[in-house]
Amino acid sequence: VSLSRLNTFNLPGTAERYLALTDLRQLEGKPFLKAPELILGGGSNILLLDHVPGLTVHVCLGGIKLLSEANPADPKADKIIRVGAGVDWNQFVRYTLDQGWYGFENLILIPGTVGAAPVQNIGAYGAEVAERIEAVHVWEFGVGARILSPDECEFGYRDSRFKREPGRFLITAVDLRLNGRHELKTGYGAIQSELARLNVEDPTPNDVALAVTNIRRSKLPDWKFLGNSGSFFKNPVVPISDFQRLRAEYDQIPSYPIDETQVKLPAGWLIDQAGLKGARSGPVGTYDKQALVMVNHGGATGREILTFSEHVKAEVLAKFGVTLEREVRLIGE
Ligand code: EPU
Repeated sequence: VSLSRLNTFNLPGTAERYLALTDLRQLEGKPFLKAPELILGGGSNILLLDHVPGLTVHVCLGGIKLLSEANPADPKADKIIRVGAGVDWNQFVRYTLDQGWYGFENLILIPGTVGAAPVQNIGAYGAEVAERIEAVHVWEFGVGARILSPDECEFGYRDSRFKREPGRFLITAVDLRLNGRHELKTGYGAIQSELARLNVEDPTPNDVALAVTNIRRSKLPDWKFLGNSGSFFKNPVVPISDFQRLRAEYDQIPSYPIDETQVKLPAGWLIDQAGLKGARSGPVGTYDKQALVMVNHGGATGREILTFSEHVKAEVLAKFGVTLEREVRLIGE
């Protein structure tokens, strides 16, 4: 089965066997089912190298259900929503805004599925999905259905237990807590400037969603037109001493404090300063408006992207002494 339409890099690749999981009954009664080779959601965080041996399970479980309200008579009370793992994340966010359920406006337009969101703890513009996760419903291979608490998911920056223990769990649904009243996160510089540009003084969640939409459209390519998987690397976390050494040489270097001993640096800035923004090697390159995004200009293979990304990594290491770590997962032989 071809996977080329099931990954946002538009890379060629095949699965030896393919199963679309549309109903939990396909798992129930089979507790000793073996983990498949690949669990696929929206295919937006994978680098498909070629052939995937064994079974690929494409998670297509639907459903958005309002589970509980702190006070049903009060439209402004918090809500708990159970969402099927196969629901498209962005469609879900739009649906919540339409319902007057707030909290995910900063995470609008992120590609992928709801079930994949906890795996890498998606985040953007000052918000992370983990902040609103009440529970993650999983199928644990060899065990059966389980419900994991947020603590059990061990969330971190672009990280979770699901990422660290691949093949152990298949996420079937996620319970999310949304607000009935506005509690906006507008601290991120880019949001403030965009709201100012839009002449919005007292923003609503829809204003924030519009600001984020405009920002994303201005610097992140739409995979339907230009294959990509968003940020290719994580933003590296380095010791303060490394940061001070770099700042002495590059006084403009942006940074985000983590704690007293560590600083996070934007990988996009490092790649840009290494002279690689918009760089190209055949059909592969970095995006000309955001160097952290690798793009497939058409006809690239996963190997070509991997090779080019290793070049980018080597250049950043040579120039700054900072090692970049991939965010996307390598899949296939
Ligand atoms: N920068 C450059 N040149 C570039 C790219 C960035 O100088 O080519 C500078 C920017 O000017 C800014 C800093 O680097 O000072 C950070 O850039 P940006 O705000 O675009 O965010 P980022 O750190 O590159 C992270 C996430 C994005 C998320 C944005 C916004 C990671 C790995 N990436 O990117 O997530 O949308 O913040 O919150 O944490 C994704 O994961 O696919 C993704 C797009």
